[in-house]
Amino acid sequence: MALILHLRTARELWWQSHLQKLLPEIECRLWREPGNPDDIEYAVVWRPPEGGLQQFRNLKCIVSVGAGVDHVLADSQLPEGVPVIRTTGTDLTQRMREYVCLHVLRLHRGLDRQWQAQCAADWQPDITPLASQRRVGVMGLGKLGADAAASLASLGFDVAGWARSSHHIDRIDCFHGDAQLADFLARTDILVCLLPLTAQTDSLMDREFFSLLPKGASIINAGRGEHLVEQDLLDALETEHLASATLDVFRTEPLPKEHPFWAHPKVLVTPHVGSMIDPETGGREIARNLLDFIANRPVADVIDRQRGY
Ligand code: GLV
Repeated sequence: MALILHLRTARELWWQSHLQKLLPEIECRLWREPGNPDDIEYAVVWRPPEGGLQQFRNLKCIVSVGAGVDHVLADSQLPEGVPVIRTTGTDLTQRMREYVCLHVLRLHRGLDRQWQAQCAADWQPDITPLASQRRVGVMGLGKLGADAAASLASLGFDVAGWARSSHHIDRIDCFHGDAQLADFLARTDILVCLLPLTAQTDSLMDREFFSLLPKGASIINAGRGEHLVEQDLLDALETEHLASATLDVFRTEPLPKEHPFWAHPKVLVTPHVGSMIDPETGGREIARNLLDFIANRPVADVIDRQRGY
């Protein structure tokens, strides 16, 4: 019984040794040294190469090293009928909570303005509104989104959420579906995108979408780069309809050196670090899900391949 691991190369050995300790009965092999492909029953992957998983005829399940599964489902030759398990868990939720609260607070308290003032040795004591006067909107109310929304509410923000289907979360005004999107956007000063990437959410943040946000709103995208139409964002910043964008995810990663986002004065670029999984805590989640799967116990993180998350 063997498992194949595909990750960004720099991290593969670190992951391999952790997973091997957690799963002593399963031989953990690297993608570049698969041995006999027929031994492989489990694949633990981040952005597997197109068509690559097909060579493993005895594959029983595919684990995404991350909460998103779009990078697995994007493979047009993905073996049919093989369950796909995502990885969530407390470390991913905690890291995303930190990222979202950090940047919402940064925008709320005008930290970028203060930094610029400091560069000019300019003492500018602005009084910012209270959090309860700042309307934050979180798109995507799965584990990460619901947790981020609740954390923002506990900091005192006026928080609403939006998702494809209806949700009920304490202290969060929940909107859902296309019909309620405009009302959700109209009441949002800081928009946080934590949606899964699906055919319905691809390019959702476009010109028309931005026009529904109040003038001066800011966006934080920690979902996927494909949620955003980049030129439409640049235009909305140029016309000052939007005040700023904080972007952790991009259509092309790493973000190409010549990309206009890098040097844009109203864009903060972070290199897809919003919620990175690590082999110690993430490895434990993966091992637990795999052992449950092997023992035929229910695994909550098996995704619906049809729905896309
Ligand atoms: C990160 O992007 C993830 O999907 O967990």
